[in-house]
Amino acid sequence: MEQNIETLQKSGRVIYPPAELKAQAYIQDYEKAYKQSIEDPEKFWENVAKELHWFSPWNKVLEWNYPWAKWFVDATCNISYNCLDRHVQSWRKNKVAVIWVSEEGEERIFTYAELYRQVNKCANALKALGLNKGDRVTIYLPKIPEQIVAMLACARLGLIHSVVYSGFSAKALQARIQDAESKLVITADVGYDRSKTIPLKPVVDEAVKSCSTVEKVVVVQREKNGSALTSEKEIDWEDWLKNQSTHCEALQLDSETPLYILYTSGTTGKPKGVVHVHGGYMVGTYITTRYVFDLKDEDVYFCVADPGWVTGHSYIVYGPLLNGGTILTAEGKPDYPNPGRWWDLIERYGVSIFYTTPTAVRLLMKFGEEWPAKYDLSSLRVLGSVGEPINPEAWEWFYRVTGSNKPIMDTWWQTETGSILVTPLPCVPLKPGSATRPFLGIEADVVDRDGNSIEHGGGFAVIKKPWPSMMRTIYNDPDRYLLYWNTIKGCYTAGDVCHKDKDGYLWFMGRADDVVKVAGNRIGTAEVESALVSHEAVVEAAVIGKPHKTAGEMIKAFVILKEGHTETPDLIQQLQDHVLNELGKIAVPKEVEIVSSLPKTRSGKIMRRVLKAKELGQDPGDISTLEE
Ligand code: WT7
Repeated sequence: MEQNIETLQKSGRVIYPPAELKAQAYIQDYEKAYKQSIEDPEKFWENVAKELHWFSPWNKVLEWNYPWAKWFVDATCNISYNCLDRHVQSWRKNKVAVIWVSEEGEERIFTYAELYRQVNKCANALKALGLNKGDRVTIYLPKIPEQIVAMLACARLGLIHSVVYSGFSAKALQARIQDAESKLVITADVGYDRSKTIPLKPVVDEAVKSCSTVEKVVVVQREKNGSALTSEKEIDWEDWLKNQSTHCEALQLDSETPLYILYTSGTTGKPKGVVHVHGGYMVGTYITTRYVFDLKDEDVYFCVADPGWVTGHSYIVYGPLLNGGTILTAEGKPDYPNPGRWWDLIERYGVSIFYTTPTAVRLLMKFGEEWPAKYDLSSLRVLGSVGEPINPEAWEWFYRVTGSNKPIMDTWWQTETGSILVTPLPCVPLKPGSATRPFLGIEADVVDRDGNSIEHGGGFAVIKKPWPSMMRTIYNDPDRYLLYWNTIKGCYTAGDVCHKDKDGYLWFMGRADDVVKVAGNRIGTAEVESALVSHEAVVEAAVIGKPHKTAGEMIKAFVILKEGHTETPDLIQQLQDHVLNELGKIAVPKEVEIVSSLPKTRSGKIMRRVLKAKELGQDPGDISTLEE
């Protein structure tokens, strides 16, 4: 770890934001604004909340019953109303809300008024199915506008959406539908990936076979020929919306009404359903989008995420729409049809804010600077990075090819935190590789195991006070929620290792637990292990993350075979295919090594730390508990 910290800080360069940018930014003096916000965080958040629409006001800003929080107590609101109605009633009515482009260059543009109409039709269609406040809806769609429409329509009625990334396998989808007990699944016939057609409907068919709660399946049909509908309970999206009215009153919901469940990986084999609520989440995503990216009405904001992950929820859909922003979203990958794809979109649509990931930057680096050099990127003014630490080399490259004057907001946060918690603002001096300082109103710190603050040096990342967009619980599993607040006394433990330098800048170093970040996607080693041992040839498996040049980390599995099975290339392939089936493409181990034993503690726990150290040729540290 120490070694990592050194490489990260090697460049030691400080980059000051361009004066013009700073001069027009919402926040021009971070130190002053931060100090003020921290002196009275409730006042700070209350003032932010006042910028949004509430049907009725709160009696209390925060009710903190450690570790359970309620924000904007007894107020009523609706995030969908704030994303749409508020703008439709203003001059923004005919402003562009969403520009969507397909891989093949098809373009769909939604003004606020048009998005409002589509969402309202969809909400009426949901109502027509008899769905009621609190019911769960699973959305398993590729990155198409219907995904956004469906999310906002659910929110409008107080239905809880559970968006599942369309790269997940039938088994993974099934587990998520079952845990949420969804009544409805919204899907599409296919997705497209580098011009390949990816069938999605068959995945849903397979998944819902054993989901007794699912009453209906709505299908967006993208392919021209034939119909993907195969049973009575299936409805075509177009037919579903066709005769619905373009107005559906947004429900006046208590601010603590659940908005969504989003499943993410942890340290056990079972993914956890992170629950976010209307009021606090709305306040957090609204103000972070505004201050971090300095989002203004004139901007074209391009976030490359997929709403299947939390970045898409908070920074494609909710945050930007709450601000009345113009969002560009594109289906497909950064290198298809060529590595100029995103640079071309930036030039074509005059993108001014570009939010991407370290993995994508490293991928584009491989193709060379000649690709960005072909395009006019002068419309850009603020850049963003998220999902994993961005190494200074990738940081510098991204900065240089975009003109050496657009600051990169390295935003640290998690599915659980709902919105960005540690990040520069466009007025903060940058150190490449550091997410810099806490956002306003956020008390982030680095502490030792006992919770003592570390003045400077390495330790665990924690948040010391509740914040509005924090998760409220883990669906069906409150004990797992408690763990976040009970691991280190008195604070929220993020699960990240972090280094604080002498200027108070935070350098996030990766996970402290058994979670691996492959291309920014969070994968629990325990999930991959349990998938592997469910294969008939496997007795035991241990999975670790290994550094990888573009993906950041890759998965390596160590497997013990059952008696009678021998190692062959075919078997390795079978094991990889098995994980593909059980979990999906992102969880497939790139390397599988057959071994005869695994390092374990006396109580039988696999010591992944020891495996990892051995694999990387490092010192395994304390191995006194090692049995063999
Ligand atoms: C984990 C959360 C945040 C939305 C997308 C991922 C890592 C995230 C950064 C960053 C260093 C980062 C952490 C965190 N992470 N952003 N800017 N610098 N690490 O959300 O899947 O819930 O993952 O991603 O390890 O704990 P997620």
